[in-house]
Amino acid sequence: MTDNASNTPKANGQGQAMWGGRFSAKPAELMQAINVSIGFDKRLWAQDLAGSRAHARMLMNQGVISSHDGEEILEGLARVEDELLSGTFPFRDEYEDIHMNIEARLRELIGPTAGRLHTARSRNDQVAVDFRLWVRDACDRTVGQLEALQKALLARAETYADALMPGFTHLQPAQPVTFGHHLMAYVEMFGRDAGRFRDARTRMNECPLGAAALAGSPFPIDRQQTASALGFDRPTANSLDSVSSRDFALEALSAASITATHLSRLAEEIVLWTTPMFGFIKLTDAFTTGSSIMPQKKNPDAAELIRAKVGRILGSLTTLTVVMKGLPLAYSKDMQEDKVPTFEAFDALELSLLAMAGMIADLTPNTENMAKAAGAGFSTATDLADWLVRTLNMPFRDAHHVTGSAVKTAEGLGVDLADLSLAQFQEIEPRITNDVYAVLTPAASAASRMSYGGTAPAQVRAQIARWKEQLA
Ligand code: ARG
Repeated sequence: MTDNASNTPKANGQGQAMWGGRFSAKPAELMQAINVSIGFDKRLWAQDLAGSRAHARMLMNQGVISSHDGEEILEGLARVEDELLSGTFPFRDEYEDIHMNIEARLRELIGPTAGRLHTARSRNDQVAVDFRLWVRDACDRTVGQLEALQKALLARAETYADALMPGFTHLQPAQPVTFGHHLMAYVEMFGRDAGRFRDARTRMNECPLGAAALAGSPFPIDRQQTASALGFDRPTANSLDSVSSRDFALEALSAASITATHLSRLAEEIVLWTTPMFGFIKLTDAFTTGSSIMPQKKNPDAAELIRAKVGRILGSLTTLTVVMKGLPLAYSKDMQEDKVPTFEAFDALELSLLAMAGMIADLTPNTENMAKAAGAGFSTATDLADWLVRTLNMPFRDAHHVTGSAVKTAEGLGVDLADLSLAQFQEIEPRITNDVYAVLTPAASAASRMSYGGTAPAQVRAQIARWKEQLA
């Protein structure tokens, strides 16, 4: 906590803080310590300046302040912006937050006219608009990062549209799929994630500026004007709601938590696939680290950290939900606790999305290992059953039973289904012919799954083409 006497605001000649008119003593040091938010809400400076500019222009246009004063304020704000951009702006704890830091600096630069900027405005609607602008930007950035990740996945999916790998259920070999198909599953998930951020943005895109403290303003303000100057679709329609609500942030954090959940699943698969036991993919040194004691190790730390980030991000959603729960209308200082979790969550999400896109571009699949694994575990058993249904017109349940016997025989002999002789097959079901072998390879199995959205390479390529067009 800085406590430089010369920095202590005496601006209004009323006391030590801007609201000091009715106060006679300085706040206790502990009070300042718990109250101060400049350490984290300085991240809202660009949004705060944008809000102040829109507000000042509107006040001027409406004749609430003279154009002389308005121009002076706008020039002063430009000087404040220069200081912020060049890193010379003096952030001071005694001004509590970004809003009062900027206003105090404006006063130092242009004098008492600065005090007119806060006409028809309160910090309550000021912080509401700043934070909404920040969350809106964060949603837009996230959509861009999600699309970049989708493009990275698409590029690999296209190269490996035919590459066989085992498809799993219960993490047991189930049916052969292609690596391209598997990667495209995540393209779908991240596509819905981007959709959630777009939806949240649409819903949050209403401007709370002009709600003032809580009840609106007696000045002839034009809220339509400030709303459109700040890129909002319209002003919010209830002044109490405007300063009380943070569900726009909760919604963005929900979307972030779901995205982080998807990222953690892909991260977990990367962790599994890079183990020597799977041996499906390799990461370069760029996304792995070594062990200080075990020289052979190459650890997928980035994937592990992405897998973990959902804790922080979902934690932020929980934090803000609990902060907002049970708060009476309208503004309460509790709401100052909205920023740290939100900033933290989006920082973690951004890093995760960028690192994941990097890893996807970095990985090299071992297609030979994957193809070999694709045939293991009797993964074409369903294909045998389907063949029995199609060729012998067997009810599927009976076909399932016959196939089960074939698997049992093969397992007993320690061979794959395709290694059973025709005689061995016919012992189980005499009508089986040589044609059956054509469906028992993993490649034939995958290629046969031509249903819409299936793993057949032709289907996978069709989805890749659709997404490429959509993301172009
Ligand atoms: N720093 C505060 C926040 O982030 C700004 C609003 C304060 N309003 C007030 N009346 N104390 O919520």
